[in-house]
Amino acid sequence: MSATGGTPHGPGDPTPTSAEGVTGASGVPGPQAGAGTPGADDQVAHETSPLAGSAADTSVSPAGGPKSSPHSSVTAGSGSAPKRPSVVLGVGGGIAAYKVCDLLRRLTESGHSVRVVPTAAALEFVGAATWAALSGQPVTADPFDNVQEVPHVRIGKGADLVVVAPATANLIAKAAHGLADDLLTNTLLTARCPILFAPAMHTEMWEHPATQANVATLRSRGITVLDPAVGRLTGADTGRGRLPEPSEIFAISQLMLADSAARAAGERVADLTGKHVLISAGGTREHLDPVRYLGNSSSGKQGYALARIAAARGAKVTLVAANSELPDPAGVHVVPVTSTRDLYDEITGRAADADAIVMAAAPADFRPAEFAEHKIKKTDDGAVPAVSLIQNPDILATVAHDRQRDGQVIVGFAAETGDAQHSVLDLGRAKLERKGCDLLVVNDVSGGKVFGSDINEAVILDRDGTALPVPSGSKDALAGVIWNLVATHWH
Ligand SMILES: Cc1cc2nc3c(=O)[nH]c(=O)nc-3n(C[C@H](O)[C@H](O)[C@H](O)COP(=O)(O)O)c2cc1C
Repeated sequence: MSATGGTPHGPGDPTPTSAEGVTGASGVPGPQAGAGTPGADDQVAHETSPLAGSAADTSVSPAGGPKSSPHSSVTAGSGSAPKRPSVVLGVGGGIAAYKVCDLLRRLTESGHSVRVVPTAAALEFVGAATWAALSGQPVTADPFDNVQEVPHVRIGKGADLVVVAPATANLIAKAAHGLADDLLTNTLLTARCPILFAPAMHTEMWEHPATQANVATLRSRGITVLDPAVGRLTGADTGRGRLPEPSEIFAISQLMLADSAARAAGERVADLTGKHVLISAGGTREHLDPVRYLGNSSSGKQGYALARIAAARGAKVTLVAANSELPDPAGVHVVPVTSTRDLYDEITGRAADADAIVMAAAPADFRPAEFAEHKIKKTDDGAVPAVSLIQNPDILATVAHDRQRDGQVIVGFAAETGDAQHSVLDLGRAKLERKGCDLLVVNDVSGGKVFGSDINEAVILDRDGTALPVPSGSKDALAGVIWNLVATHWH
């Protein structure tokens, strides 16, 4: 039969009432076993994919130097025309199914061929007509439709990526136990490509030991299962269980496709599975009074890119975010902070558990010596309040000099403008030495460059004396290069 089903909650429904969310959490496992996950002994080279980040072939000193190797789509092999990445979008029976229409649009509009495979329950929420119209492909939940095409095998085998969203507790359980009683669960067993589950359900269902055991089983097989986000659930409920934002599921699916393409092309991509990484992002605020503060222009985009890429490569990621307005990256545990002292407390308090600490935030070096409990008022006599500043603690130097874990890699950032006597790189080298970190990512921020931009360009200084220029590219690409270098320090 062709599944049709009603649409009690269509894409235009303004009232999300079930498990959907805004905040990600920790614990994204790595690339899929079926996709050829590399072993722990995999070498990490500077040669990189977009997921891994592309570095220039102009490296100053690492032996052999990096080679640029851009990838932005799945290719059919060298010399062939690029093939449209083929994505299977499995939809489970939860109210968050309506949000997946947005994900489907993002996938189709960015050139992917998308075959939607809903469950019968999913079609109770969003009907087959919607999925078929948005995807331009036939839609059914039933493996006995068009049986001459053997869809229960063909769809999975032809996929470059399977995304399941919302992944219900039921689907997670069926996948963990290898059940195959509808088209989607058959597809999950026949697919040999990367698989991404984006769960959404009530907190109680997510936290149930049965669900947690099933999630652990899937992750142990190399399937990426995002943690659901925290936020408003059905009715007045709040907690973990919301579907990660479609934009974030889309971003992570792109990274998984790029990763898979890079591996297929024989490139080395550092696998961060089993590692816990601690990242800071954003710009701190130092309050003068309840409404005014000293701040800076950091958007947090580079730190968020580092978090997104690390999660996509399998790391457990904690992101301490100072005043950023960016959506939480899927699968990342986000800890919001305001001031440099808050950031100091969160980073130093979590440092002992981290295999790598990447300080991409822009913490204020100084804060007002006094904080006025009440708003400082303007007076008629024209007097201007004097603000005296005191130094904040140096977070990078503290974690670098007080390492709490063997093999921990510390990465700093230096936003420099240079001056009459010193180049940006001179200042970067001095900072690397002074702070005692392993890697320092040096940005030239003169003329307003970098802050708020989606593009970055840097030189990465290594404590071994090498310097790796990374040409202008996306912040995701730079993040990939940074993680590859971190991984070389672990090996
Ligand atoms: C209104 C409503 C909302 C639901 N929302 C969810 C949900 O968000 N997550 C979930 O795991 N199950 C949810 N369920 C339960 C599933 O629909 C049910 O377990 C179903 O069997 C799932 O089938 P599927 O996994 O084949 O899609 C909901 C059920 C109803 C009636």
